[in-house]
Amino acid sequence: MPLNVQATSGEFSAAAVDVLAVFATEGDLAKQKPLSELNKALGGGLLEHAGHVDFTGKSEQTLDVVTLGKIKPKHVIVIGLGKKDAITAAALRSYAAVAARFANSVMAKSLALALPDPSADLRPVAEGAKLGAYRFSKYFTGDRVPKSELREVLVYVGRATPAHRKQLALGAAVADAVIIARDAVNEPPNELYPLAMAEIARKIAKKGKLKIQVFDKKAIQQKGMKLLYAVGQGSVHEPCFIHMSYVPKKAKKKIVFVGKGLTFDSGGLCIKPAPGMGDMKSDMGGAAAVLGLMAAVSAIAPSVEVHGVIASAENMPDAGAYRPGDVFGSLSGKTVEIVNTDAEGRLVLADALTYASRLKPDVIIDAATLTGACMVALGKTCSAFYTADDDLAGKFAGSARAVGEQFWRMPLLDDLREQLKSDVADLKHTGERWGGSISAALFLREFVEGAAWIHCDIAGPVLGDRAKGVYPKGGTGHPVLTFLDVVESMG
Ligand code: BES
Ligand code: MN
Ligand code: ZN
Repeated sequence: MPLNVQATSGEFSAAAVDVLAVFATEGDLAKQKPLSELNKALGGGLLEHAGHVDFTGKSEQTLDVVTLGKIKPKHVIVIGLGKKDAITAAALRSYAAVAARFANSVMAKSLALALPDPSADLRPVAEGAKLGAYRFSKYFTGDRVPKSELREVLVYVGRATPAHRKQLALGAAVADAVIIARDAVNEPPNELYPLAMAEIARKIAKKGKLKIQVFDKKAIQQKGMKLLYAVGQGSVHEPCFIHMSYVPKKAKKKIVFVGKGLTFDSGGLCIKPAPGMGDMKSDMGGAAAVLGLMAAVSAIAPSVEVHGVIASAENMPDAGAYRPGDVFGSLSGKTVEIVNTDAEGRLVLADALTYASRLKPDVIIDAATLTGACMVALGKTCSAFYTADDDLAGKFAGSARAVGEQFWRMPLLDDLREQLKSDVADLKHTGERWGGSISAALFLREFVEGAAWIHCDIAGPVLGDRAKGVYPKGGTGHPVLTFLDVVESMG
């Protein structure tokens, strides 16, 4: 049953719901509404309990109590929002997500949400509620099947209006789009291989009235995408190339998103060590984000032309696999000497970036779980982005900040370019270990023709170690919200 998020008005402490969520900010809790009123309704116990457990309203702090019949809701959760002036749309999204996740954890079916700002846009609230309630449970049987799921969220506003309804509907659609990305990342690699990803894309295109083209192995060869072909040649699962497009009537700008879609990256002949290899099912996180973004774009219908391009393959060791020492041409015409078959992402992206360039867009943004080096540099919860365009960098960083996703700009250091010189081909595809995320970006740059370009190395944040804010453990849906904000800010 899908989760229903609705705006309502009235006295929330009297709501017949399983969980009531209220907020608190740092500072004297006794002076905060509606906390103080709720405290009174509970006979004073709430603030006393807050004192005992040192709940101060800091961001990410929560306080939950069982009401034992004192008021209608069975549970109350107080969620810290941090400083009072820091209540942004991102904070609201996260607040709703934490509340919904808690509701699921206590087997609640209904949740009432008090809002810090009754005039706030409810779109992020609906996004947060649906994203917080998300669980990936399709492969559970018997006892492991969740026994209960959150069905209804009541968002308390001064007076519910049709505008609220519209905001909530948009938020629900955006959350569903982010969930497409999460599901794809969580899906096991025996189920989600390149052509299975193309099927997901076809479904999204059909539902959202998008154009779609899928090139199979033969078409990839015919078109001259030799690098994508090479990476896929060691797998029994054929590679594929997906191009989805949203073309509104009077678009002033055209943007292409490109995703790395390695449905599994074993490393190929340069095979990875066993520990953690299973996480390489998430090596299609960039492609997943492109799928989610295209679903969101079809729901929001912005006045920008948006293309989603995915290069998908499985990187496997096999008698037919590509090897170190091989030299291949590419869609761009440049030749590449293979150094390490585990640096496959930049190869499939190279052909995809050339293809994207030939669509003659204003901007290309690629997303790829590209390097372990990026995770060494920025940790597991922050992505890198690279661009030569300062103005675009500012806008992109602004979008990430606005939606609460962590991105940090890294430099395209020209002096590392010489590491990519090959004795036998135009380019080698890897450089030194040091600065590995940067040299990967420099390699990609060789295949971008004309357009302004941002490269995102999202190796860390696509997969979460633990739930935090809007993100669950496992597939997070990062960076769909950032990309959507970029599109919406353009047109
Ligand atoms: N998919 C990996 C990068 C990765 C590693 C993503 C860990 C998420 C977690 C990528 O294809 C890869 O293997 N990169 C190599 C490049 C190296 C061989 C130059 C790496 O980072 O070790
Ligand atoms: Mn690899
Ligand atoms: Zn990879």
